[in-house]
Amino acid sequence: MKVLVVGNGGREHAIVWKLSQSPLVSKIFVAKGNAGAWKISHKVDIDPTDVEALAEFALREGIDFTVVGPEAPLVAGIEDAFRKRGLKLFGPSKEASQLEGSKAFAKNFMKKYSVPTAEYRTFEDYDQAVKFVKEKGSPIVVKADGLAGGKGAVVCQSVEEALSALKKIMKDKVFGEAGSKVVIEEFLEGEEASYIVMVNGEKYVPLPTSQDHKRLLDGDRGPNTGGMGAYSPAPVITPEVEERIKEEIVERTLKGLKEEGIYFRGFLYAGLMITSEGPKVLEFNVRLGDPEAQPLLMRIKGDFLKALIDFYEGREVSLEIDERWTLGVVLASRGYPEKPEKGKVIEGLEEAESLKDVIVFHAGTTLRDGKVITNGGRVLSVCAWGRDLKEAKQKAYDAVSRIRFEGMIYRKDIGDKAFKHLPTS
Ligand code: AMP
Ligand code: GLY
Repeated sequence: MKVLVVGNGGREHAIVWKLSQSPLVSKIFVAKGNAGAWKISHKVDIDPTDVEALAEFALREGIDFTVVGPEAPLVAGIEDAFRKRGLKLFGPSKEASQLEGSKAFAKNFMKKYSVPTAEYRTFEDYDQAVKFVKEKGSPIVVKADGLAGGKGAVVCQSVEEALSALKKIMKDKVFGEAGSKVVIEEFLEGEEASYIVMVNGEKYVPLPTSQDHKRLLDGDRGPNTGGMGAYSPAPVITPEVEERIKEEIVERTLKGLKEEGIYFRGFLYAGLMITSEGPKVLEFNVRLGDPEAQPLLMRIKGDFLKALIDFYEGREVSLEIDERWTLGVVLASRGYPEKPEKGKVIEGLEEAESLKDVIVFHAGTTLRDGKVITNGGRVLSVCAWGRDLKEAKQKAYDAVSRIRFEGMIYRKDIGDKAFKHLPTS
């Protein structure tokens, strides 16, 4: 069977890596991918957001099954474009993708269906937003309504900071039209975790838990990024917390979608704050997380393509999960997230990849004169399996130490937050 994966990042390399292991695959394509994904699949030179061109390609090529990585093509209606042509694609429709595409939509939906989340107000009027921030005081969180590449949420420790964020988003329009509306919400205290499920209507199958590291610098300092590293499982999600996530978040959301007449088929990702009152939703995404997908897919055993197709077609599936821990460290370019450098030669890849229990997923990489060079903010995600978190971390960082490119930056503390939940031995 012919399979297409849409997207250019580390998550998409990991999806190609996992699906290409299936004996069902005769040929696997990636649009557009990166230097890592091209090693194990055929490159399609169409932008992920050019959804009509992708659907035409899939029709012409006889693609049997498509999996979408990033949000932009989903929000642009890739599922609708494929469905219209009778093509099978795992990912939600344009309508269902609003859960990620509009924060105001998601917040109003959560309120209506009693899904726990931070208290909030939405504003289209700048002066009213300013007034509200002054009344509420700090800390407070200001978010652009639309897609902003994971950078549209500003956690503000002072009123001045919040006012400056409002000005940037609503007046200076740094995120364009995504900022014509804002959500202002209560600051939640706790530890973050990612809970991702495969959804088909009312049915869902949980994937392993994981935790991202959103801030650029060690100790959760610096600006928010797309994510600087992740590990799985996330012990902050205890069995009791997981039961609450299923009941109060996943099941209420699926019931709400049904009542709204919105059909959701794809990955649903709840970005959570585990507070002293229980789990609360920071955001919904309608896809796998990046960098969470990499360690997470490494823990799924067996034929994931078959599981996805069975699930897509409404059959029962249960996933077999590897007991080992996985951890991935993102190597980024100097200047990320604001203005990353590009075009630097990457050295040491082969040596890192030859290590036992290590996989190097590519993100912003491309080829020049046969050499792998950097081509974006997040360049690689260096992942490893370990019997425990400590071993996974040690193996991943050992592999990191073999890789070099000019201006390479990375966090040294991926996974550290988990240790406090684990028995010391
Ligand atoms: P979002 O894009 O909505 O997930 O927000 C990005 C990041 O900002 C989250 O991963 C959190 O670290 C932080 N954040 C967002 N909303 C809140 C909140 N209400 N309270 C505390 N931190 C938040
Ligand atoms: N790692 C966060 C995200 O994918 O949105």
